[in-house]
Amino acid sequence: MITYEMKPEYYTGIEAIDKEHARLFELAQETHGLLYNDLLQDKTDGLVHLISELINYTRTHFSHEEEYLRSINYPHIQAHIAQHRHFEDQLMAFDIDSIENDFEGQDETVENLLDFLVNWLVSHILKVDMMYVEK
Ligand SMILES: [Fe+2]
Ligand SMILES: [Fe+2]
Repeated sequence: MITYEMKPEYYTGIEAIDKEHARLFELAQETHGLLYNDLLQDKTDGLVHLISELINYTRTHFSHEEEYLRSINYPHIQAHIAQHRHFEDQLMAFDIDSIENDFEGQDETVENLLDFLVNWLVSHILKVDMMYVEK
């Protein structure tokens, strides 16, 4: 069983932001749980719920983070915001309507969602978020 959670290198040192990043890893863990839930034949509801939770929570996190970047007059804020919007677009593109009654297709969609989420989260935190952390 893989666990998705914060590692020491993911911490920005800004408590509110670290807490929100930790919640995003929790959502990745929930996605993993859904993928390996063999008792559940139809994962449509779970997937719809997870994606909407992800959309809402990333919006909240991004708006807090962008507010923080404004408050410190971060010079690369526009490029950073563009990355957040790009993530939101990719998340919205997950086609959940087409997977109803296609149980094999569902697992593939959940797996794609998980890969996308974890890869994005780790690379964005390490390469992009870390740039605003004062050293
Ligand atoms: Fe960010
Ligand atoms: Fe972030």
